[in-house]
Amino acid sequence: MTTRRTLLTRSAAVIGAASSGLLLPQIVRAQSGKIRIGFMLPYTGAYAQLGVAIENGFMMALNEQGGKLGGRDIEVFKVDDESNPAKGIENATRLVQRDKVDVLVGTVHSGVQMGIHKVARESGVLSLIPNAGVHLATRAQCAPNVFRTSFTNGQPTSALGKAMIDKGHKKAVWITHSYAAGDEAFEGFEQGYTAAGGTIVKKLGLPFPNVEFQALLTEIAALKPDAVACFFAGAPAAKFMRDFHAAGLHKSIQLYGSGFLTEGVLDAAGEAANGVMTTLHYSDSLDTPRNKQFRLAYAKTFKLQPDVYAVQGYDTGLLMIKGANAVKGDLSNKKALYAAMEGAEIDSPRGKWTMSKAHNLVQDIYLRKVENKENKVLGVAQKAVADAATGCKMG
Ligand code: BEZ
Repeated sequence: MTTRRTLLTRSAAVIGAASSGLLLPQIVRAQSGKIRIGFMLPYTGAYAQLGVAIENGFMMALNEQGGKLGGRDIEVFKVDDESNPAKGIENATRLVQRDKVDVLVGTVHSGVQMGIHKVARESGVLSLIPNAGVHLATRAQCAPNVFRTSFTNGQPTSALGKAMIDKGHKKAVWITHSYAAGDEAFEGFEQGYTAAGGTIVKKLGLPFPNVEFQALLTEIAALKPDAVACFFAGAPAAKFMRDFHAAGLHKSIQLYGSGFLTEGVLDAAGEAANGVMTTLHYSDSLDTPRNKQFRLAYAKTFKLQPDVYAVQGYDTGLLMIKGANAVKGDLSNKKALYAAMEGAEIDSPRGKWTMSKAHNLVQDIYLRKVENKENKVLGVAQKAVADAATGCKMG
């Protein structure tokens, strides 16, 4: 007889093997019955709202197709990853080994993504990244079964520096949560800003998800830069804008950011967000029929305004549909599945995008400004931005 205790012991052993770096067995799945989808997303913690928006967007895409993939019904499994990198491998292993998912959809936090990535590379399970921008996943550690439908961390900030110089802001302080997302966003920013003639006066950081900004804001006031550029997202982004404003810094220093700063938090940030300028691959106010139709349908379904995370979730669903339809639901036909996903051209609310050879998006980056609780698009800051994909060898 198999008791709950022995089951727990067995899965603990599997998880132990995965975390110790042993290869997971290639998992053979039946290609009949339901397609098993595993969401590994943050449903609690600093990035909880981002995880919910991604799941909403993904499910909306599938529901537009009658809730099926390649003619097969779906079954959903969920794990709250809490944006905790320490539990990344264990949580992804649970979805792959215990729930036997056919596809892993996750996640938001770059550190957690590295746990998913290890499990995906070792098990061969299809892995769709709906947000986390960690460079390695589509650079030196790119893999045939891993597709990213969001961005690389350096992509949104690659055009930010030039936009700042165009506004006459030549001396800047950079501030971020210090982990892969913020550090790699800095890479994109530094390269563009210095090439355009800007000087980075100081680079400041604090550990994720700490939101005690006061000492750092005092330091910024003393440095008197023309501008501050930053990477923050989710609830911490709203707090950073409120604290920056409450300290009076907005009166003399223009605040810029990787566009996540003002996504999904405009109500929470209130008037502190007004005038903040950012660069990102989406804007609420994109004046296209596709975006308007998406925004209306999302608001009607979820009684919420969509943001970039909802768009990325939606696009992840659209990519999965393309692949699954091409193989008529037979996800074991990996060659044809991956070829269909690689060749996909998606008509997204953000604009049309294609997939690079490294399985990352080639997309336009917009310059935006917050006005009356909306990210207003000011123009295209850079067209068809592709990641460098340094060191990626598919095979
Ligand atoms: C990241 O950790 O990769 C990330 C988190 C939130 C927004 C953008 C990137």
